[in-house]
Amino acid sequence: MSIVEYRRPEHEIAPVFVSRWSPRAFTGEDIPPATLLSLFEAARWAPSARNAQPWRFVYARRGSDSFETFVSLLHDRNQVWACRASALAVLLSNRTIVWEDKLVPLPSHSFDAGAAWTNLALQANLLGWHTHAIGGFDRDRTRQALDIPDSLAIEVVIAIGRIDGKDSLSPELQEREVPSTRLPLSELIREGTFRR
Ligand SMILES: Cc1cc2nc3c(=O)[nH]c(=O)nc-3n(C[C@H](O)[C@H](O)[C@H](O)COP(=O)(O)O)c2cc1C
Repeated sequence: MSIVEYRRPEHEIAPVFVSRWSPRAFTGEDIPPATLLSLFEAARWAPSARNAQPWRFVYARRGSDSFETFVSLLHDRNQVWACRASALAVLLSNRTIVWEDKLVPLPSHSFDAGAAWTNLALQANLLGWHTHAIGGFDRDRTRQALDIPDSLAIEVVIAIGRIDGKDSLSPELQEREVPSTRLPLSELIREGTFRR
């Protein structure tokens, strides 16, 4: 059964919304620099409050010294599979913005960074690659190891790679290597007021 059949939308949508999912089995192959830049380019065009564009990325390609550092920042349960990604990127967001010559808080910095992550993930899928967001990592060590200033919030690590067969995973992870489903739309939307 294809993924689009398994993750059947209730209403018509572009296939990319269901074909994007978060595998753990990656081939570990090199990602062409142009492909990686295309993903960040898609992120760049995300919308943001006041067009502040608070998203920032630090990335490492597999095979580089910095890649090993990035992997070491992940919790063990994520290291075991994310070490086979072609690249890892840390998504950061700027907590403030200069507005009318003053540095003011940007309350939507994480929300905006989330939009950038989604653009990146969908672009990856459109190019035949997959992504997997990772919240399970050591943020303090990440700030220190990657020299991230306090003005930037650390949002998530993004694993980017080409999907592999699940045989490459441990039996436990093989069992979890199934695209997720979603709550029914009727649970998510209300017309008029929230309470029925
Ligand atoms: C903010 C965030 C943090 C996540 N952290 C982890 C993680 O630490 N480890 C992991 O295996 N998956 C992680 N995920 C992946 C989610 O579990 C996954 O996106 C979710 O189950 C929906 O499945 P899908 O992306 O395949 O549609 C994270 C996703 C997000 C958006």
